[in-house]
Amino acid sequence: MISEQSVKINSQEKIKLKKRLVIISDTHITRSGGAFNLHAFNVGIEKVNKIKNTSLYLNLGDITQMGTLLDYEYALEQFKKFDPVTKSPIMVLIGNHDAMNVGYLLFEEMIGRRHYAYEDDDIYILGIDSTKPDLPGGIIHHNIIKAVRAELEIPERENKFKVVCFHHQLIPIPNTGKERSAIDDSGDMLKMLLEAKADLVLNGHRHTSNLYTVSSSEKDLYIFNAGTFCCNKTRYRELFTYSIVDIEGSNLSFKVIPVFDPESKHEILREVNYYIPLQIEEKQKPIARFIQMSNSLVSEQKDGKISKFENAINSINKMNDIDLVVHAGNLTKNSYKEEFKAAKDTLDLLKHPYIVVPGFTDSKPLAWEYWKQNFGDFDPLYENEKIYFQGMNSTTLDSKEGFIGRKKLNNFIEKVLSLSHQKIFGVCCFHNLIPTPLSVWRTELIDSGDVLSQFARSQIDLVLNSSPSISFNVKIENTVFSNGGNLEGKYFDEVFIEIEIYRKGLVVLKEHNLKTGEAKVIGNYYLTILI
Ligand SMILES: [Fe+2]
Ligand SMILES: [Fe+2]
Repeated sequence: MISEQSVKINSQEKIKLKKRLVIISDTHITRSGGAFNLHAFNVGIEKVNKIKNTSLYLNLGDITQMGTLLDYEYALEQFKKFDPVTKSPIMVLIGNHDAMNVGYLLFEEMIGRRHYAYEDDDIYILGIDSTKPDLPGGIIHHNIIKAVRAELEIPERENKFKVVCFHHQLIPIPNTGKERSAIDDSGDMLKMLLEAKADLVLNGHRHTSNLYTVSSSEKDLYIFNAGTFCCNKTRYRELFTYSIVDIEGSNLSFKVIPVFDPESKHEILREVNYYIPLQIEEKQKPIARFIQMSNSLVSEQKDGKISKFENAINSINKMNDIDLVVHAGNLTKNSYKEEFKAAKDTLDLLKHPYIVVPGFTDSKPLAWEYWKQNFGDFDPLYENEKIYFQGMNSTTLDSKEGFIGRKKLNNFIEKVLSLSHQKIFGVCCFHNLIPTPLSVWRTELIDSGDVLSQFARSQIDLVLNSSPSISFNVKIENTVFSNGGNLEGKYFDEVFIEIEIYRKGLVVLKEHNLKTGEAKVIGNYYLTILI
């Protein structure tokens, strides 16, 4: 086995002197109602005031509870207690609560700019507004994404450590209940941040702390969510916290410190790594090869022409050594009985094994019956001596919303753990766990935070989901998440994805374009493959 370590290249030492970011977030200050915990604020601010060697203080938004004049006035009064020993600047970002009730005007008048930059010789930190006026959800806007990219890609900043901060979560995080009020253009933002080689993203909003290592084919990006400092709306077992991020060289330390119990702080250490593609020797065969597709939308009207779906099946049948073909849902257009039968007949033309899970368009009334008749299992499993691949039905009857559920998730994770070090693990479901560029991030999977986190932290190698638009993939922790293989061909060319896993842990994703007949590599990653 070759570990990840052996293919990483030396990290770039960007920061000579240690930088310390101190984060308080989601203070929700108000004179009325039960949201604001004044005692937590008082105790916390006293502790934050004593922190030494801070480079920058950050409040990641939801300073106030209601965004009203009284709330802003009271918040400014409370912040007079903020008198740190290190007189460094503070970056205050606007949150959705601050933007309520025309609070965005008060924010500008009473706090300051909604976009903020801090820069020195080693570090560049940009804070931006992710709010929608008077609405809980978030948006960045394509012009801002473009502007942020331009800032990050300025040549003089190439060797600086680059941090981008905004209030709403960029990707779903665990222990927050229903996934909601995310950023509409998260996919575009995530893609830009990876391409522009940002090092760290700081978010608030969800009132619980979390850290993900999100990697492109070239380097790591850390996404840190701060918990709430003093809002009574806490989540699960995490109460009020503040965070300290220390950056030294390419080493990062994230400390989450409970306001009332500083002794039980937890610290996570990470390193920003760069990757170079490992050369695949000629004739080297992958240990596993998968095909991923979705949105075949089989309908009754065929006009005598070969459908895009049949075209895809014909192309796949010309390929050899495919272990498994995975169809991630939206098999039929209307969930009609005849459509399921036609889809089954087409899939049966495959000369390779396949599994298929339902998508939203396969979930209209009576679809369950037709699915059972044609495909049997809603959660199909494919297993051979080297692969354990679980299909999961994430749809709910006649609804765009879906969920996996704790029981199904736990059973699967338990199975994975029992077989660990023996097989390559894959899972597929219709709903996306990561946002895709060029589409609105719908977050229709209710429990996507828990599902994404469990998959990424449980040695699952491959997570395949449908794509609402283009193909897009990232690695989170040690798992490759791929949204792709959209056969719809409405706004984008119809494609399917080929995924190869090599013994040294290299994963190569190729997109086959059925319109042009071309294939191109759209991702390569290193996984710690334990078999
Ligand atoms: Fe909040
Ligand atoms: Fe918020």
